[in-house]
Amino acid sequence: MSLKVELSDKVYWLGFNDRRKHLFENQWPLDKGVTYNAYLIDDEKTALIDTAEAPFSGDLVAWIKDLLGAKKLDYLIINHMEPDHSGSIKDVVTAFPEITIVGNRKTFPILEGFYGISKNIYEVAEGDILSLGKHQLQFFMIPMVHWPESMVTYDTTDKIIFSNDAFGSFGTLNGGVFDDEMDLTCFNEEIRRYYSNIVGKYGAQVQKALTKLETIEIKLIAPSHGLIWRSKIPYIVEKYHMWSKHEGEAGAVIVFGSMYGNTEKMADYIARFLIEEGVKFVKVYDSAKTHTSYIINDIWKYKGVVLGSCAYNGGIFPPMAHLLSDLEHYGLRERYLSVFGSSSWGGGGVRAINKFAENIKWELVGDQVEARCAPNESDIDRCRSIAKAMSLKLKALE
Ligand code: FEO
Repeated sequence: MSLKVELSDKVYWLGFNDRRKHLFENQWPLDKGVTYNAYLIDDEKTALIDTAEAPFSGDLVAWIKDLLGAKKLDYLIINHMEPDHSGSIKDVVTAFPEITIVGNRKTFPILEGFYGISKNIYEVAEGDILSLGKHQLQFFMIPMVHWPESMVTYDTTDKIIFSNDAFGSFGTLNGGVFDDEMDLTCFNEEIRRYYSNIVGKYGAQVQKALTKLETIEIKLIAPSHGLIWRSKIPYIVEKYHMWSKHEGEAGAVIVFGSMYGNTEKMADYIARFLIEEGVKFVKVYDSAKTHTSYIINDIWKYKGVVLGSCAYNGGIFPPMAHLLSDLEHYGLRERYLSVFGSSSWGGGGVRAINKFAENIKWELVGDQVEARCAPNESDIDRCRSIAKAMSLKLKALE
């Protein structure tokens, strides 16, 4: 017997918890797993909205058959072609050979490219409506949230938006499916880590999508990853506004690259001095130990960023270089940046961070310090001066 979780009458959640995959997109650690959510509407005509990663295709088909009984599946609506959602399409088409595949003009070349499927397709455009009987489905294009063919499906009857990647999250569901069935504090970090690392690069497009969605009444947001938003829709929409506009909260993230502990020591001094200056939220990360996705998650949250590196072969410590490259890739704006580091027989770390600052156009705050070998008293004084300057900027936000 399959689970029967209804969003509304005969609108079903078909979600899969993936606790086995280690890396999402083969790069993002999944300590808490991830879900793939598909949805089934059982009306005069039946429709499946999105699928799941390929390993779940057998279970997905069995679940659909269990819920529909003798009825056939009429439509497969593809909101997004990335294989975490499209990986089961071939098996769904094999199980329901008369199915009509619904997508937009950018969907079908990718469908054919990945799966060789080009028949029984039905193209929809912005605002088009597909009637299932009682349920009228309307389509809105949200390009680059997070691929060019991305769209959302809006059930105008029950006011449900099937939003695919938008409003999604890392993390498996633990019995609860809706936001009011779980402790959201467990999910908050993974919601923002998903946003910042997967969708964050496309803030302008997220803003356009949010503007579009403001024109419709929404009772449920049903994404293709993570929990379904029911009671806290204003909360998550507000977060998406903040994150896509690159607004930062009053706190600081210190990230260091350190081979023998000298740059790390300076990071610890700056962290302590920030606290002494009244900054309430301070995070310290070792770039060599923590995956960039967690660091970027916090940098997306907090306005203050303090970066420090030792020198390495005349340049920057490689894990720091990786972080800076990722930050430039995402194009995060509107941050305060302070710089520190150390060198022994040659510099390079601080120089590289300054080059990064030039490229990303963050506001430089306070003096800089590059200790020669171990930090001396004068270097520590300058660490205090950095913390003072940053704390003044951050306290002005409170
Ligand atoms: Fe969850 Fe862009 O795929």
